[in-house]
Amino acid sequence: MVPTTWIPALSVILTLLTYPVASDWTSTPFNPPSYPLAVRTPYLSAWFPSPGGGVALNDAWPEFWTGATLGWAGLVNVDGAAYSFLGESSVSNFTKATQVSAEFTSTRSIFVLSAGPVDLTVTFLSPIEPDDLVKQSLPFSYLSVSAASNDGSSHTVSVYTDITGEWLSTDHTAAINWTTTAGDVLTHQSQLQNQTVYSESEDRILQGSVYYSTRNVDGATYQTGQSTVVRSYFIDHGELANTRDTNYRAIDNDWPVFAFSRSLGKVTKDVPQYAVFSVGHVRDPVIKYIQNNGVTFESRSYYFWSTYSTISGAITAFLLDYSAALSRAESLDKKLQTAAASISSDYADIVALSMRQTFGATELTISGSPGAWNTDDVLMFIKEISSDGNINTVDIIMPAWPAFMYLNPKFGKYMLLPLLQYQATGQYPNEWAVHDMGAHYPIANGHDQGLDEKMPIEECGNMINMMLDYTQRTGDASLVKAYSKHLNQWAEYLVANTLFPVNQLTTVDFDGPLPNQTNLAIKGIIGIQAMSVISKKYLGDVESANSYNSTAASYLKTWQSYATSSNGTHLVLEYGYQSGDVLAFNLAMDKLLGLNFIPDSVNSMQSTYYENHLAKYGFPLDSRSTYTSSEWMIWTSMTTSNSVRNSFIQAVHGWVSSGQSKTPFTDRFDDATGSSSPNKNRPVVGGNLALLLL
Ligand SMILES: *[C@@H]1O[C@H](CO)[C@@H](O)[C@H](O)[C@H]1NC(C)=O
Ligand SMILES: *[C@@H]1O[C@H](CO)[C@@H](O)[C@H](O)[C@H]1NC(C)=O
Ligand SMILES: *[C@@H]1O[C@H](CO)[C@@H](O)[C@H](O)[C@H]1NC(C)=O
Ligand SMILES: *[C@@H]1O[C@H](CO)[C@@H](O)[C@H](O)[C@H]1NC(C)=O
Ligand SMILES: *[C@@H]1O[C@H](CO)[C@@H](O)[C@H](O)[C@H]1NC(C)=O
Ligand SMILES: *[C@@H]1O[C@H](CO)[C@@H](O)[C@H](O)[C@H]1NC(C)=O
Repeated sequence: MVPTTWIPALSVILTLLTYPVASDWTSTPFNPPSYPLAVRTPYLSAWFPSPGGGVALNDAWPEFWTGATLGWAGLVNVDGAAYSFLGESSVSNFTKATQVSAEFTSTRSIFVLSAGPVDLTVTFLSPIEPDDLVKQSLPFSYLSVSAASNDGSSHTVSVYTDITGEWLSTDHTAAINWTTTAGDVLTHQSQLQNQTVYSESEDRILQGSVYYSTRNVDGATYQTGQSTVVRSYFIDHGELANTRDTNYRAIDNDWPVFAFSRSLGKVTKDVPQYAVFSVGHVRDPVIKYIQNNGVTFESRSYYFWSTYSTISGAITAFLLDYSAALSRAESLDKKLQTAAASISSDYADIVALSMRQTFGATELTISGSPGAWNTDDVLMFIKEISSDGNINTVDIIMPAWPAFMYLNPKFGKYMLLPLLQYQATGQYPNEWAVHDMGAHYPIANGHDQGLDEKMPIEECGNMINMMLDYTQRTGDASLVKAYSKHLNQWAEYLVANTLFPVNQLTTVDFDGPLPNQTNLAIKGIIGIQAMSVISKKYLGDVESANSYNSTAASYLKTWQSYATSSNGTHLVLEYGYQSGDVLAFNLAMDKLLGLNFIPDSVNSMQSTYYENHLAKYGFPLDSRSTYTSSEWMIWTSMTTSNSVRNSFIQAVHGWVSSGQSKTPFTDRFDDATGSSSPNKNRPVVGGNLALLLL
């Protein structure tokens, strides 16, 4: 291996040699597979695919995370001449603005394009609001377009943007309708005519409305109608007609668009002018949540209803808050950048690309009804995304956990609570911890038949480890106290089963089950040790603490003897089989929890082994396939030498900046070729923040 100090220089050389030559613009920090544009919930998830060396913002359409097109057009009129800056409008008489730069931060994607004598800065801001539940729960995102003269003269500028009905459904034959309201804010509301509550098709929700809005200030105009007609009207007039098309029809029937134009007036170099738009997808209720042994279901709503009684009130507040939201976003970006850059600048890039994707899989909810919201009853729901549509999957929350712990540990509690409340009712029949809260988001109907995906040791270990981590980080012992019965039940399951696991699945379920997996066994053993700490520190149960403590210690010894290869170079995949090896990411749970339980010799043995067996894009999850995972490599690097940590970071960075993919951040790729799996946009990339927890 190269010495650590060489690595930055080497990575520069590798960048020059192997990465696709960037296009004519600069990409900061690099060109990602896909730029997050409006990413806030499982259903507000607009991305801009940018494979190869990158794609200009006006050379393709944005997409839903699944790859379905989302019509989102942007045009600008400069002294009477039209330019496009977003999407691929098929109308005449405009020029494509020239992309100058593209950048992403944790909360923003920022594109600069020159439109003749004017430079446009197009900012897509999807806020992450860890300290404000109302703001975090608003399913809206900002588009801001700022114009400045680039030639010393002043220019007259107006900005146009529209969205299509594609924001409602992937099925373009679906009938939609829409209305436009003009108060302090102009809003186009559109929805499917045939809605089914809590129902998805192709990962789109068949419920609720899309809202496209801008402030109703001087020079703001609107129009709805056929895309080519409305876009051409702006090109010809530099504004819109303030007319409404009320011929409601299918998404692809003369493609109705919902458009705004904003006059920016005279624009100079020193005094840029800007206009802000918001896009959101709102539904109510949000989540169906099992109660009373499945006899009834609670309808849960977005947390923001506790503050706003109408959606237009929420949108107005959201738009008026733009400047403040932007400075909060800049602070958050800076905080993450500074913390991650203390490890390496490559690491800071990975963190930045992980943030919106992680939070964009979640929704914050309350129970109650208008005028009587239970703001103490906060639950956060998370969609597994792309591997399947499960809701609050335990072994998705676990890998994603670091992002939530780093920004606000309460989010962890809000995600665990549905699982704990459900199991506390006794409806779940198995002795181990449930895998998820329901087979399909947004229905949290539990598994009263006990037929959830079976990962007993995995989920028992995850639950105990996350509960201890939450409690240690917050000092709030209420959760472990309230659910001590189940914690003990799961710990007992581990005592009985984790030393010699039968043929069980782990979170790496695509490789199938296997008996006696060393990495699974150690998760359970660490779980027993974690339970001894919970018992001693928070439950005052000394007897259990001692018993779990001595069991864990003796299991660890036995585990080491079975799990270590006979020549002592590494951990085998499966007890007794010398031929396999494994990315032993569960050893990182010991670091997460600060237990100091795993002997340093185990970590240093593995670290050396990884170092000697690294492929271009890292080390495989286990020797059954060549696939690895970004977040599990980062988790693992909590346990390795700094040099191996840097190699893992470099592997993830090398892959994600390689131009090979065009989907939201995938968490699974081939360690040599970089070919990626269909897993994309999963919140598990929150695990890329693991090193920030050390
Ligand atoms: C394009 O502009 C020319 C000149 O102004 C005009 O004659 C023509 O009708 C325009 N075409 C369209 C499709 O708007
Ligand atoms: C649009 O469709 C929805 C759902 O069927 C319906 O509730 C609403 O009244 C319709 N709106 C208009 C303007 O037709
Ligand atoms: C409405 O959608 C449901 C399922 O989403 C479908 O079964 C039903 O046939 C649809 N109704 C109409 C009138 O299209
Ligand atoms: C697991 O390993 C132990 C110890 O070698 C062995 O006795 C047991 O049969 C193995 N279990 C399975 C399911 O293979
Ligand atoms: C576990 O036992 C060891 C000694 O064997 C002791 O140092 C440690 O404090 C114990 N931990 C707990 C949580 O009881
Ligand atoms: C250790 O054992 C593994 C698996 O049998 C083998 O591939 C490797 O070459 C051995 N290494 C040493 C240093 O003996």
